[in-house]
Amino acid sequence: MPEHKALFIPEKQAPFVVRSVPTPKPGPGQLLIKVESAGLAPADWAIQAIGILVPKYPIIIGMDVAGTVEEVGESVTKFKKGDRVVKECSIGDDPFLSDSSSSALPNDHNSRGAGFQQYSLASEDTTAKIPDNITFDQAATIPLALATSAVALYHDGNGALGGTCGLTPPWEAGGRGKYKGQPTVVLGGASSVGQITIQLLKLSGFGPIITTASLRNAEFLKSIGATHVLDRNLSPDALHAEVRKITADPFTTIYDAAGSSETQNIGYDLLAPGGTMASVQDDLVAPEKKVPEKKTFFMYGDVNIPPNRKLGVSLYSKLTELLEEGALKPVPVEVAPGGLEGIPLALERVHKGLSCLKLVVHPQETA
Ligand SMILES: NC(=O)c1ccc[n+]([C@@H]2O[C@H](COP(=O)([O-])OP(=O)(O)OC[C@H]3O[C@@H](n4cnc5c(N)ncnc54)[C@H](OP(=O)(O)O)[C@@H]3O)[C@@H](O)[C@H]2O)c1
Repeated sequence: MPEHKALFIPEKQAPFVVRSVPTPKPGPGQLLIKVESAGLAPADWAIQAIGILVPKYPIIIGMDVAGTVEEVGESVTKFKKGDRVVKECSIGDDPFLSDSSSSALPNDHNSRGAGFQQYSLASEDTTAKIPDNITFDQAATIPLALATSAVALYHDGNGALGGTCGLTPPWEAGGRGKYKGQPTVVLGGASSVGQITIQLLKLSGFGPIITTASLRNAEFLKSIGATHVLDRNLSPDALHAEVRKITADPFTTIYDAAGSSETQNIGYDLLAPGGTMASVQDDLVAPEKKVPEKKTFFMYGDVNIPPNRKLGVSLYSKLTELLEEGALKPVPVEVAPGGLEGIPLALERVHKGLSCLKLVVHPQETA
C-alpha cells in the first residue's frame, strides 16, 4: 500500500507531528492530487493552538491546495493525470469524499482531502484547472479566500449558513457588472479575503469600492480594483467622515474582511437600512447599535459542504477562465521553507500578522 507524509494534529492542542499515512485511491468522481503548494491561513494556527473547529482527532488540516492530478477515479471526465489543479479543502470529514474507494483503509484519520500532506483527495466538481499564467504557489493563495468571499456575496440564500448578500455571481449569466454604480466598503482590503472580495465586487460592477488598509498597500489595492484606500489607523469617526467625502450614497453591501470589533462597528455604522454586512468573524457589533433593518452575518467559507455546494460547483466551473483572463488575480505569495515540517513556524508568522501576503509551503520537500 503506497504511503505519503502528512502533518497531523494528534489530539486537541497537541503539537503538529509529521507521520506517514496510506495514500488513498480516488473513488467515483474524485481525483488524487499530488500537492505541490499548500496555503496557510490564520484559522490553521487557531485550530492547533486553541483547538477550534475540529470534529475529531487525529486530524490533518490545511485548506488551500494546488498540485497535479496523480490519478482519477471512475466517471471523472474533466481531468486527467498530469493536469495542474486547485481546490479548497474542508476541515475534517468532507461528506463528498466519504465514499472513497479507500474506505477499506483503517480510518485512523478523517482528512483525506486536507492540504498539509503530499497527496490529497478532491471532488471533480469543486476542483479547477490552473491556467498557464498562474503558478502553483499563486493558485494556492486562492481557494479559502475565494470561498469566504463568494459564499457571503453570492449564495442564493437557499440553506445559507449565517446569511448572504444575495448578489448574482459575476461568473453567471447577467451577473457581470450588474451592480454598476453602487458603492461598497471592504474593511481589511489587504487581507487575502479582502483582496479577493475587492476583485469580485469590481466584477459585479460596484463602485466606488472603498477599502481600509495600511497605506503602504494602497497602490497594490488600487491595481486590483479598489477606487479609494483609506488608512486603517484612522479613528472610526475620521474614517466615517472620509468615506462620506467620497460618496453620500447609501451602502447596501459591506464586507468586513478583517473581522475585528472595530471594523464590524465601523461597517455597521456605514450600512444603510435594508443593507447587509458580511463579516469573516462572529458578530461583534455593539448590541445597542442593532436595528432590525440592518443585517449582519458570519459566513462559513467552504465550497464543499452541502449548504455551499451549489455555489461552489458553479464557481469552480468558471474559475479557470476568471484566472486566465486576469479577472481574478492571486494574492502576493511567499514560500515558507521546510516543507511540512516548516508549517508550525510559518503559522506563527501568520498569527503574528502578515501584510498583503499569503504564505504557502511545498509538502513535497518533506523526505
Ligand atoms: N469565516 C470564514 O470562513 C473565514 C475564512 C477565511 C478567513 N477568515 C478570517 O478572515 C480574516 C482574514 O483572513 P485572511 O486569511 O484574509 O488573513 P490575512 O491575509 O492574514 O490578513 C492580514 C491582513 O489583514 C489586514 N488587517 C488586519 N486588521 C485590520 C484592520 N483592523 N483593518 C484593516 N485591515 C486589517 C492587514 O492589513 P494591512 O497589512 O493593510 O495593515 C493584513 O494585510 C481572519 O480573521 C480569518 O480568520 C474567516
